[in-house]
Amino acid sequence: MSHMQTPFDARLRAAAATIEQRLEALLDDTARPGEIARPERLMAAMRHAALAGGKRLRPFLALEATRLLGGPDEAGLRAGLAVELVHCYSLVHDDLPAMDDDDMRRGKPTVHKAFDDATAILVGDALLTLAFEVATQEGADASPAIRAALVAGLARASGLAGMVGGQMLDLAAEGRYGPRTLSEAEIRRLQAMKTGALLAFAAEAGAIAAGASAEDRARLLAYGRALGAAFQIADDILDREATAEALGKAVGKDAERGKGTLVDTLGMEAARAECDRLVAEAQAALAPFGERAGVLVEAARFTVARKA
Ligand code: IPE
Ligand code: IPE
Ligand code: MG
Ligand code: MG
Ligand code: MG
Repeated sequence: MSHMQTPFDARLRAAAATIEQRLEALLDDTARPGEIARPERLMAAMRHAALAGGKRLRPFLALEATRLLGGPDEAGLRAGLAVELVHCYSLVHDDLPAMDDDDMRRGKPTVHKAFDDATAILVGDALLTLAFEVATQEGADASPAIRAALVAGLARASGLAGMVGGQMLDLAAEGRYGPRTLSEAEIRRLQAMKTGALLAFAAEAGAIAAGASAEDRARLLAYGRALGAAFQIADDILDREATAEALGKAVGKDAERGKGTLVDTLGMEAARAECDRLVAEAQAALAPFGERAGVLVEAARFTVARKA
């Protein structure tokens, strides 16, 4: 296998490095105007959760969507940063003993292992609320209407009918609240919520930040929904086939815990075919943009071809 870096890889890495810098700047120990103090332990644990690791796919999608629609990088970056903060929070809580009970994340001990459960709960709370602060910040030509749309969309994607609701369905699918076998349609719905909603919003957020028309915003949302569905199937395939070393997190946990996945329901071969179909669907949503959408078209392919 080749280890050569493609132009797409280089572009993703560059965006990831920028996001990393922005997160570092956001999470230092110095209290900002209006803040009373930043507790040292909380800040250290937040940095553990948010820095050094992660593909940064969500902020990349936001940034590239903004670029596609002619908005300033700064607007897309800020929207992407807000989404990434919510994503990092969701991972910290997902790993808690009461949830998936995982010890490794992004190649490091999970936050509750490196610190403790209570700190991990507070880290999640603080990352989530910080995301909304970032989304409301002035600047980057974002009008009050744009900022309000970003906040509303982020809340919707993250909350009861989005990521959090999906996590509830995911836990129920394990059978912990009574015997439960999910149909294919139920698994798709669960995954559209727990993973798809935030990924779809990342792409849509980039469009919102660029001040896009309703039509273009809908195109990016359709792209993000298909990509998000493909992304979770790929995550489930990797849980079966990749190594913990490559993923930076435990493998084989889904089968062990009885998670509802399409790999179970459809079988491995059909799950892979479904990934390909969804990638094509994501790419088709961007057809009206022609070649200008090349980076996002590649990002859809990356979503399922990734090794980690
Ligand atoms: C992992 O997301 C959790 C899921 C939604 C499946 P990512 O695979 O994007 O995790 P990082 O951010 O790269 O660590
Ligand atoms: C996580 O799904 C979705 C979230 C909202 C965090 P998983 O539980 O499959 O994610 P991993 O495999 O732990 O990263
Ligand atoms: Mg989970
Ligand atoms: Mg998990
Ligand atoms: Mg998983």
